[in-house]
Amino acid sequence: MKTLGMQPSRRQFIQQLGLGAAWLGLAANTSFALANNTPILPFRQNASPLLLHYNENSLGMSPNALSAAKFAIERYGNRYPSESIDEFKVKLADHHQVKPEQLIFGNGSTEVLQAIATYAARQHATMIEPSPTFGALRGYCKAENLNVIQVPVAQNFEMNIAAMKKQAMAQSGPVLINICNPNNPTGNIVDFSIMFDWINNAPDTHLFLLDEAYFDYAQANPRYKSGLDLINQGKDNVVISRTFSKVFGMAGMRMGYGITTIKTASKIKPFAAGFNLSAAGIAAASAALDDKAFYKKSIEYNQVSKTILINTLNELDLESIPSDTNFVLHRIGTPLVDYTEHMQRNGVRVGRKMTVDDRWNRISLGTPDEMKIFAQTLMAFRQNGWV
Ligand SMILES: Cc1ncc(COP(=O)(O)O)c(C=O)c1O
Repeated sequence: MKTLGMQPSRRQFIQQLGLGAAWLGLAANTSFALANNTPILPFRQNASPLLLHYNENSLGMSPNALSAAKFAIERYGNRYPSESIDEFKVKLADHHQVKPEQLIFGNGSTEVLQAIATYAARQHATMIEPSPTFGALRGYCKAENLNVIQVPVAQNFEMNIAAMKKQAMAQSGPVLINICNPNNPTGNIVDFSIMFDWINNAPDTHLFLLDEAYFDYAQANPRYKSGLDLINQGKDNVVISRTFSKVFGMAGMRMGYGITTIKTASKIKPFAAGFNLSAAGIAAASAALDDKAFYKKSIEYNQVSKTILINTLNELDLESIPSDTNFVLHRIGTPLVDYTEHMQRNGVRVGRKMTVDDRWNRISLGTPDEMKIFAQTLMAFRQNGWV
């Protein structure tokens, strides 16, 4: 499956990437990079590695968020941020048109997942999730000795909702269902009509955690809807988690949150760390919410980077999974361990093993300039028979 229909000719494509004959000549030297540890693209010598392995935002954070964080450290670094947390809670609630009591803060959304796992453990719930998926909730549930059932995704990497539903219905007690939507590492979404139908017909003892870390990249897809719609309809068995780590470029600031109904929030909050946000993180997140231009740029750049990547993969005839995120899962055709090593030696950090078949790689979408370098590297790899 290819995700983009239009393929530029090889010549046009090479021109787009700014590659010339010199590069092609170099790339023909098969074991160049490994033999003397010189990167396959000469201009990458001594360059910082491209960090395309953690689905971060290479653009950085909004300049306004950065100034706000600096100011907060200078002015309030020695003070507890109680008032700022309260103010931020109201601002974020307004942003989502929910009540402040519906929010659960986390030092990163991962910490919200931890609170949910602890809550589920007190209910002696069974956790059900697709495989592969983001592993944090699974880790916390296992630490709590919960029974974790993983349901493999289908051949095309779509979640097998029918099989997950069947597993959930086979449990006699409470169930926690982990749906990362869009999913990591596959990058694809669950059609909202299928998911809403399941949730609307599920027993109250089935709690759905919808991890929406990549929501912002998916919202333009008409087949995608946030679980917030269900929460707004009063569904007590839905919690969504969101983060400032992705589109807002603030992974290092550790700002995440969950949204659910007031009733469910009051049950989960006792298990959350509480008072877990820093003055700098709050100030940055607050400014980031106001900086609509940066948000738009983040989404637009991601789209440009995705096009560069998909064109390259198509050119090399490497299948990719349609992504509504800031990363793409794609075939590499060679074992991941070799590929990763070649990439590492050429100054590119790429994803780790995340699929059963190890001939796939998850690559984060860096800036368009970074993706051009990645594309050049990948083309050179083809010349060397490394992909
Ligand atoms: C699906 C998913 N959820 C949560 C997180 C973690 O987010 P945070 O930085 O808010 O803890 C990630 C990070 O990559 C992720 O991919």
